[in-house]
Amino acid sequence: LIHLLSTEGLPRDILTHILDTAANFVSVSDREVKKVPLLRGKSVFNLFFENSTRTRTTFEIAATRLSADVINLDIARSSASKGESLLDTIANLSAMAADLFVVRHSESGAPYLIAQHVAPHVHVVNAGDGRHAHPTQGLLDMYTIRHYKKDFSNLTVAVVGDVLHSRVARSDIHALTTLGCAEVRVVGPKTLVPANMAPMGVRVCHTLEEGIKDADVVIMLRLQNERMSGALLPSSQEFFKSFGLTPEKLQLAKPDAIVMHPGPINRGVEIASAVVDGKQSVILPQVTFGIAVRMAVMSIVAGNVAN
Ligand code: CP
Repeated sequence: LIHLLSTEGLPRDILTHILDTAANFVSVSDREVKKVPLLRGKSVFNLFFENSTRTRTTFEIAATRLSADVINLDIARSSASKGESLLDTIANLSAMAADLFVVRHSESGAPYLIAQHVAPHVHVVNAGDGRHAHPTQGLLDMYTIRHYKKDFSNLTVAVVGDVLHSRVARSDIHALTTLGCAEVRVVGPKTLVPANMAPMGVRVCHTLEEGIKDADVVIMLRLQNERMSGALLPSSQEFFKSFGLTPEKLQLAKPDAIVMHPGPINRGVEIASAVVDGKQSVILPQVTFGIAVRMAVMSIVAGNVAN
């Protein structure tokens, strides 16, 4: 693995290898072990052209714990604001001996463009591109599910909400189907679920009740207001009434179902606060596992850990 751009097409053995490698890093991400030297002498450039709290911070922590030098480019204060092109920015940062670019961009495909133009020894990890892919979120979601549920082959996983605009949904679905998840359901109003999803190996449900009935895992998605035009945008109250996950509706899922959300959360829009903060929520453990998973990804692509 030279770059990580998507979970689509990643073979099952590589997905499993990343999750197993992450499991070995949990003691480092928990701070029992302070650092490992796998990226010592390497420079990791965090390039977040779109805002982030969880992904950017956990990539920074992960790279630091791998002993890399970490450079967080402040995009708003960079010369991108003067019109410098993406590829010119990359060429100049490459001239500063970058080894790995972590890239978030609002344009789908931007990390692919960068990967096509960097030198062979330079690695690119997609930290979320438009509505296309968010592979490390997909991987940390798989890590979380495996942690709590052990085996994918018996699981029903419901992915609920604004599937249309969600790069997380796509990355989760590709990873879940590759890992042999028994049933993947996508759940949302017709306006927010793409029409052609069945070939991805999912069951499409247009009511929350059908979608989460007897589910083992419920992954809630944020309404991506910033990617919607006015006509598509449902009102928050309407959406919550039909697709908001409340404690009452969660009772339709299995009693030991876990609730996940990639964040940021719109409390009272796609999910009730009582569920976010409730006993079945594993939303904050997802964030913590993200450190070990991102350590695994960066060590595999750039740190000579076998792949
Ligand atoms: N889950 C996620 O990508 O969150 P951020 O946008 O805060 O990175």
